[in-house]
Amino acid sequence: MHARTHARKHGASKPAGAHLQRKNTCHARCRLAEYLSNTEENFAGCNILELGAGLGYLGLTIARNTLASLICLTEQAEGGALSWCRLNVEKNRHLPNSGVVRTCECDWRDYASRSTPSELDIQNKPEGCHKEQRFSTGCQRQQESSQTLQIQEHNSCIQTHQGATNTPRCRDTCSGKEADRLFLTSTKWDYIIGSDLVYNSVGSTLLPLVMKKLCSPTTVILYCHTKHRFDHLDVEFFEHLNKNGFNVEEVREPWLPTPPPSPPPLTELFPEQRIAIYRISLN
Ligand SMILES: C[S@@+](CC[C@H](N)C(=O)[O-])C[C@H]1O[C@@H](n2cnc3c(N)ncnc32)[C@H](O)[C@@H]1O
Repeated sequence: MHARTHARKHGASKPAGAHLQRKNTCHARCRLAEYLSNTEENFAGCNILELGAGLGYLGLTIARNTLASLICLTEQAEGGALSWCRLNVEKNRHLPNSGVVRTCECDWRDYASRSTPSELDIQNKPEGCHKEQRFSTGCQRQQESSQTLQIQEHNSCIQTHQGATNTPRCRDTCSGKEADRLFLTSTKWDYIIGSDLVYNSVGSTLLPLVMKKLCSPTTVILYCHTKHRFDHLDVEFFEHLNKNGFNVEEVREPWLPTPPPSPPPLTELFPEQRIAIYRISLN
């Protein structure tokens, strides 16, 4: 189905700018979901990988709003994060296009010293992304999808593992960490996405490595970040991206006003936080 038809089918009509009022309450995940749902880039036939998917909002919204072929939501098993993500994926299987969503375990710490995809036998996708004109449906579509999206949060869970309190039972295809790793490293990802992933040194130092190991020269990484939450980690993260050969540029969302200039990192005690989407690709 053409993207525009798909959009109409789900009742989209408003222009993108309408969401301006909500920007202060919007998390990084909403901003990226909104950007990906409205950008001219076309995702038809694309393989999209989400790192640190959390409760699954971003990946599930993208599945609903685009024509991607595969959207793989990944999480670490630690703390029950992957189980929560899988629970929400299963709860939303009734949504259109949710069949393209799968989940995998991906703990960044496991990728720090392992082989890269270029060392593995990568099977090329027979068809790449189709470049078609993308619809511009505005935030109404995202709002609609978030209204029907059922995200179960930690404090409201009723399904539990035996013995473990408050961790949902996994009902997705749990193929195991190694099988998941093989799948992740042998799939050619057109896009890698993520939001608010840098809040400790694992994120700032290992995430660039994981990105490098899972991307190909043509992969586009779209990472949405809340700047100035942890200035020192921001600095470290961008240094590590640079070290790993990535080019980083902030994406301008045409429906938003030009963001104010950011103070240089570590110069203000309480700098104003702001959300920024970065387009990251190999040099
Ligand atoms: C602040 S949350 C953001 C979640 C989601 N992206 C969002 O915006 O709602 C950070 C996420 O990174 C994940 N994470 C942290 N360390 C990780 C690691 N070593 N491997 C994989 N995921 C990790 C956490 O489990 C958590 O879901």
